[in-house]
Amino acid sequence: MSLAFDYRGPTPRSDTEIFRADVLSGLSARRKTLPAKYFYDSAGSLLFDRITELDEYYPTRTETALLTDIAGEIAHLAGPDAVVVEFGAGSLAKIRILLDALRTPRAYMPIDVSGAHLMAAAAELRGHYPELHVTPIIADFTEPLTIPFAGNANVFGFFPGSTIGNFDPPEARRFLRRASATLPKGALFLVGADTKKDRAILERAYNDSEGVTAAFNLNLLARINRELGGDFDLSRFRHRAFYNHDLGRIEMHLESTGAQTVHVAGRSVRFAEGETIHTENSYKYSAPQFATLAASSGWTARRLWTADRNLFALHLLENA
Ligand code: SAH
Ligand code: AVI
Repeated sequence: MSLAFDYRGPTPRSDTEIFRADVLSGLSARRKTLPAKYFYDSAGSLLFDRITELDEYYPTRTETALLTDIAGEIAHLAGPDAVVVEFGAGSLAKIRILLDALRTPRAYMPIDVSGAHLMAAAAELRGHYPELHVTPIIADFTEPLTIPFAGNANVFGFFPGSTIGNFDPPEARRFLRRASATLPKGALFLVGADTKKDRAILERAYNDSEGVTAAFNLNLLARINRELGGDFDLSRFRHRAFYNHDLGRIEMHLESTGAQTVHVAGRSVRFAEGETIHTENSYKYSAPQFATLAASSGWTARRLWTADRNLFALHLLENA
């Protein structure tokens, strides 16, 4: 009798199958929703880059200026030979400020779901830092992730852009706990978080005059058409973004301009006039709120830097 048995476990699902399942589940909910991480295919990443250059979108230039101001202090705290791990690294623009300040950084591991965009940005970065080991990781950072660090590696985590604000508070705690499991004990983690401020400034940032944020939002429907054989008519959905003061978040929606039926992956989805798909939250944090979030997720708050007029904050955490 052979003792061999053949157990392969559940067949792993492809990225497209996971995308299809998430889209169908979100569109069949009573309040329709789609996960914000699906904004970022190659077209979405390019649109996000255009957002970062908009006059109205203050977070990128504010965080960049703050990082430039404090890069020397960060480099001192991080120490030499750091292995830098960046979550949601995008076009790898902000990391250059840190790489230029850090003493002999050893390796850089940018993590992002937007695979082609990440690989192109990593190739360009290598050209600027030929001595640095650049190891891009195409992955969803909301899933468990193991990085095999050498035992004595001096690991520095970086999560800029207030991407943490795109999680609701329980998701943010889950993310921080996972990051605490991924990075070694004692590792420092620099996290950018947008702050609560005047409604007009916030709403302007998500309703720009050139309509780039609207195009970024609508690209989600275009992506569903491209990858899941959908037939969304983009001209029949309107971008909406507003500050929900009670929940401390910008909400982005796509609003159906009339009653209509859309087909996605062989299913019919009905929309009433004015019904919306909730596509993104962008939470804004006060300093004490963020410190409480970090402390409840395995991190000790070590330092806080805020930009001019408290427009944006950088929190330095230590893996407790
Ligand atoms: N860090 C850059 C980009 C922020 S945009 C900056 O500060 O400007 C958010 C980035 O996170 C995008 O590049 C997007 O592709 C990535 N992202 C969003 N959700 C993700 C997820 N679940 N896993 C991995 N990357 C994700
Ligand atoms: C990446 N993330 C922090 C951006 C934000 O501000 O929430 C995404 C974005 N959505 C619309 N504009 C920018």
